[in-house]
Amino acid sequence: MKRPFAELWGTGSYAPARVMTNDEFSKFLETSDQWIQERTGIRERRVSSKEETNACMGKAAALQVLQETGLTPLDVDAIVYATASPDRLLPSQACDLQAILGAKNAAAFDVGAACSGFVYALSAAEGMIATEQAEHVLVIAAEKLTSIMDWSDRTTAVLFGDGAGATMVRRSTNGRGILSVYLKTDGTLAELLYRPGGGATHPPSEELLKDHSYYIKMAGREVFKAAVLSMADACDHALERAGLSAGDLDLLIPHQANIRIIEATAKHAGVPMDKVYVNVDRFGNTSAASIAIALDEAVKCGRLKPGMVVMFCAFGAGFTWGSMVVRW
Ligand code: UT7
Repeated sequence: MKRPFAELWGTGSYAPARVMTNDEFSKFLETSDQWIQERTGIRERRVSSKEETNACMGKAAALQVLQETGLTPLDVDAIVYATASPDRLLPSQACDLQAILGAKNAAAFDVGAACSGFVYALSAAEGMIATEQAEHVLVIAAEKLTSIMDWSDRTTAVLFGDGAGATMVRRSTNGRGILSVYLKTDGTLAELLYRPGGGATHPPSEELLKDHSYYIKMAGREVFKAAVLSMADACDHALERAGLSAGDLDLLIPHQANIRIIEATAKHAGVPMDKVYVNVDRFGNTSAASIAIALDEAVKCGRLKPGMVVMFCAFGAGFTWGSMVVRW
């Protein structure tokens, strides 16, 4: 058996209505629109309301996929949900979505791979299709990061945003689908980007709220360097495994964390910037959701058309990283 086993079928996304500009941060943090734009490329991000839970955003993206594919929730055999900011810690976000979607026939589980979550989740879905465990796997990537970031820390608060994206994975038709996957992890570097408190080792306490260890902590400069190296590594390997070169790509959709990381990744891969999808300026870093949202936008605006070859490339906490080449 040879790839492609599975293809992505339909896309959807959801962005909260509330747009927060960089200038709003400079009202309560020592920062500026100029610093944020120059260092990250971010102009604004979306911030979810209390009612816009992770599950609600995921559901909105999923419903678009169901509408596009003509499937009903009962046709979904599995839900794979990538998130680092679930509404609650137990059960998984996927279980809540299965309930509110009414996807009674679906097995449901989360994938915890932070910003690489969408690529990891697609890989899990591909495996379920290839081994004939499922016909339709709904893959959702959704984040409510503004609820777990430290609004008093300028080194992280200005970076993140909320949103969701989704797609359906089914058996490949006409040679379209996932041509290669490359996934990597280095857990020894976990503490460069993590949430120290709130888990079983440091359960919720007054102290934890006071010292802000409940929130995302990041050693930005170190993470930046690792992201550039890892995304380059991922692009090289995914292309090699697909038997393709950069010139065969019609589009690169990298994780949207920082325009400088995106540009460095494109340069290394040998992909000109006019073939790179960028929306970090409008969404900031939406972690697992970032590639999923960008994918939906790229399809809807006609930048990604049937038959084209696209590469996803991600890096995130863990550290986790990975790439996937897909014939759309
Ligand atoms: O999603 C996957 C994981 N995340 C990433 O990929 C993010 C990776 N990291 C980055 O994107 C960048 O490292 C940051 C955007 C987080 C920071 O940019 P940088 O160019 O690496 O800045 P830096 O951390 O080296 O800081 C430079 C200066 C520091 O001041 P001093 O020590 O030079 O006086 C910071 O305190 O900029 C300061 N600074 C800020 N100034 C204004 C840090 N954050 C801010 C801010 N506004 N928001």
